[in-house]
Amino acid sequence: MKRKNVNIIHEPNERAARKRAVEAANLRYVDVNVSSRLREYAKGKKYYVRTYGCQANVRDGETMMGLLEEAGFTYTNQTSDADLIILNTCAIRENAEDKVYGEVGSLKALKMKNPKLIIALGGCMSQQEVVVSEIVDKYPQVDLIFGTHNIENILDYLTQVIEKRERYVDVLSIPGEVIENLPVVRSDRYKAFVNIIYGCNKFCSYCIVPYTRGRERSRLMEDVLAECKQLVDAGYQEITLLGQNVNAYGKDFNDGTNFATLLAKVAELGIPRLRFMTSHPWDFTDDMLHVIAKYPNIMKAIHLPVQSGSSEVLQRMGRRYNAEQYLTLVKKIRAIIPGVMISTDIIVGFPNESEEQFLETLKVVNEVQYDSAFTFIYSPRPGTPAAKMDDNVSDEEKHDRYNRLSAAIDASVSASAQRMVGNIYPVLVDSLSKRNDQMLSGYTEGSKLVNFPGSSDLIGKIINVKIVESKTYSLRGEIVND
Ligand code: 5AD
Ligand code: SF4
Repeated sequence: MKRKNVNIIHEPNERAARKRAVEAANLRYVDVNVSSRLREYAKGKKYYVRTYGCQANVRDGETMMGLLEEAGFTYTNQTSDADLIILNTCAIRENAEDKVYGEVGSLKALKMKNPKLIIALGGCMSQQEVVVSEIVDKYPQVDLIFGTHNIENILDYLTQVIEKRERYVDVLSIPGEVIENLPVVRSDRYKAFVNIIYGCNKFCSYCIVPYTRGRERSRLMEDVLAECKQLVDAGYQEITLLGQNVNAYGKDFNDGTNFATLLAKVAELGIPRLRFMTSHPWDFTDDMLHVIAKYPNIMKAIHLPVQSGSSEVLQRMGRRYNAEQYLTLVKKIRAIIPGVMISTDIIVGFPNESEEQFLETLKVVNEVQYDSAFTFIYSPRPGTPAAKMDDNVSDEEKHDRYNRLSAAIDASVSASAQRMVGNIYPVLVDSLSKRNDQMLSGYTEGSKLVNFPGSSDLIGKIINVKIVESKTYSLRGEIVND
């Protein structure tokens, strides 16, 4: 579509994004080039990147920041102070998108005050046809739209916007590439995210991710290990290996490379804490469990989304396991990794979910006794198979189920916290507590938040803390001096 003053290079194409055929990903090592025009422009200018959504987006945001700093922009955490604002968006549920539309709307006032302000929209929302036409047509304050598959080009796009003074849209919908060597500004000094596999091939019927992030593409093991080694050498205390489904790591190479091997190799680099997420219950291998059990620096915490406790709903969700298989896996995990913390994601109000089926979800929650959980009300995502199903659970019913589920989760999370009282756990100290600067906060190996009195020189260290009190979502502790 040709619109006035908008240079549309590629628009998102949902037909292309739907392509399921898996082709070998193209691997590219890039050298970042900054045009002299952009370098000149960036002098003394400030950028702000606002990231919404999951850890994959956080890591993408860190790459955007790395690129902008390479060009000479400096960071600000105030939109009012920024010359360039990037919204790194999430499309997982409607309310995530609503927040972004709200933010884009409120940025209009800033743009009126400072017409030179550049506003860009990236991330998962940009991959959707409806979003791009809406933003192009109704939000003239947005100068640049790019997607999840072409972050490496943002400096070129910015050069275009500055030179030609026209709006610019470039969103690719091809299954994607693996791009290496991009600069990064890490948002934390002690904890880092490392991508191991991009995209998703599962196509769960409710989920937009396979369309916004393309097919599964693994990074070469040597590239993952090199990034992790750098982090160990720089004094990082914790690495989280990221993928929509880490279990699928290496399958696209067809040479036997797998997640268990990668996990062991990263553990052997000596990072004090190693985590990974997310694990799909469908292709969790025994080898993975034995590796997690074997290495003391692999945290005994597994995020294992169940989504529903009804086998019939799971089938319509396209999850590839039933409730019984999920429960068997949980038993096996607990047998091989004693003391493991298990967390989950659950959706209520999926199309046609009956009261009985919802009760089956409660039954699974009560049986597994999760240590933590994220719960969601089903949100139809345009273009997904579930969005074509009749969304026939009333809003009232969805909220009622959500509340009953939250109560069950709270009970199991509280019980899990209560069991920790009186014991001593190693805690990685994160920061001063938000409410009281005499208090520190940190996380246990099982990802429980602990607040305890202490001084800020302990930030970034792993220390022993005795748990003295439990609340549902946090613990209170005291440092153990031995
Ligand atoms: N509606 C509600 N929740 C969703 N999730 C993914 N798609 C949807 C949707 N359309 C949830 C799943 C997933 C988590 C990241 O978000 O529980 O595991
Ligand atoms: Fe979405 Fe399912 Fe892939 Fe997770 S496994 S990202 S829920 S399609």
